[in-house]
Amino acid sequence: MTQQGMSIEDLQWHWDGFGKTNPLWAILTNQEKRWDEAEFFQTGVDHIKVTMERVLALQPNLRQHRCLDFGCGVGRLTQALAGHFDWAHGVDIAPSMVAQARAYNQYPDTCFYHLNSAPHLGMFQSGKFDFVHTVIVLQHIRPDYSRTYITEMLRLLAPGGVLLFQIPAEYTSLRDKYRLPDRAFHARLSLDTPLVTLPAGTQQTVLVRLHNASPVTWPVMPLAVTYYVGIGNHWLTPTGEVAVLNDGRTYLAAPLAPAEEVVLPLTITAPQQPGHYTLTVDIVQEAVAWGAYHQSPVLRVDVDVSAASPTPAAPPPAVVQIADTRPPTEYLDGKQLQMEMHGIPRQAVLELLEQHGGIVLDVERDDCVGEEWSSYTYYVTRR
Ligand SMILES: C[S@@+](CC[C@H](N)C(=O)[O-])C[C@H]1O[C@@H](n2cnc3c(N)ncnc32)[C@H](O)[C@@H]1O
Repeated sequence: MTQQGMSIEDLQWHWDGFGKTNPLWAILTNQEKRWDEAEFFQTGVDHIKVTMERVLALQPNLRQHRCLDFGCGVGRLTQALAGHFDWAHGVDIAPSMVAQARAYNQYPDTCFYHLNSAPHLGMFQSGKFDFVHTVIVLQHIRPDYSRTYITEMLRLLAPGGVLLFQIPAEYTSLRDKYRLPDRAFHARLSLDTPLVTLPAGTQQTVLVRLHNASPVTWPVMPLAVTYYVGIGNHWLTPTGEVAVLNDGRTYLAAPLAPAEEVVLPLTITAPQQPGHYTLTVDIVQEAVAWGAYHQSPVLRVDVDVSAASPTPAAPPPAVVQIADTRPPTEYLDGKQLQMEMHGIPRQAVLELLEQHGGIVLDVERDDCVGEEWSSYTYYVTRR
């Protein structure tokens, strides 16, 4: 069976690239582009503190002699583990990550970092580790490789040791989760503000009365979800061609039940060229559909757009500083670096563990991967 996703060689190239360009961000992407190093390593201390409490609750007699952190990156978690074990080892596929882990190493006598380019862990002896740990690593690795790494990590475990690994299970498209059914796209719209003429290019806020003529309550989406429900407008020429697509938008601030009505302000901008136009207003769910796609009647208003009256010289614009918080895109040798996401269904993971002599102590749902994936942390031991 051919597998979708990067080969081990490509995986190494991309992660080595992240290590060379922006390692701390690539490791914890849910933060702004640059990390304060102390804060970055503190996240590791905090994480491992909670992890060790959990592990020791499940396996109180765990020997804390030797541990392995798979996919150690620059050692964020390995350094913290070194405080809990006599010997801590980190292993990573990216030479740049391993080099930096060594440079950050605060425990050079007891903590060691290894480079492993192979799709297995043959460089380590069986049964040598009391604790084998990996988080936010397997999610970036093709499942056929991940299955091998999981069985390899079990092999490395000493009897009574604990293997802790996190891996996503299922992907659920947020669009599928939040899209409204077709029958929800039925509205009645009218204009509460008289509108006959507008100077070209000017803005005006009009009041639109929106009636939910469907059998479905229109919801207010969670802020982070882009599938907002509301109204929007376009401008058409007299021959019905689109003059301006996607002009104004107003989203619902409260759910609207069937047969309920709300008056929404909509800020429209008249086309730049004078002439006769039709303003069309419709219900919309962002990135899903307009009401018109489902035969919902669209509000149409004929508007004369007049030549703009000469406007007085605008005052110089105020200087506004906007923080750039967009996720960065990193390039190496002109090629964009990629971070793939993969998962293995929970049942398949449990079967794999059973086949290889793993005894599952616990499985916890975690929030490592964001809303579109379910993800689990597995705690496993062996005899
Ligand atoms: C998101 S970072 C997480 C690093 C570390 N676990 C942490 O939480 O700080 C993922 C790391 O996994 C490493 N990695 C990816 N594929 C790997 C593989 N097949 N074997 C070992 N390490 C791998 C990457 O080089 C990168 O350092």
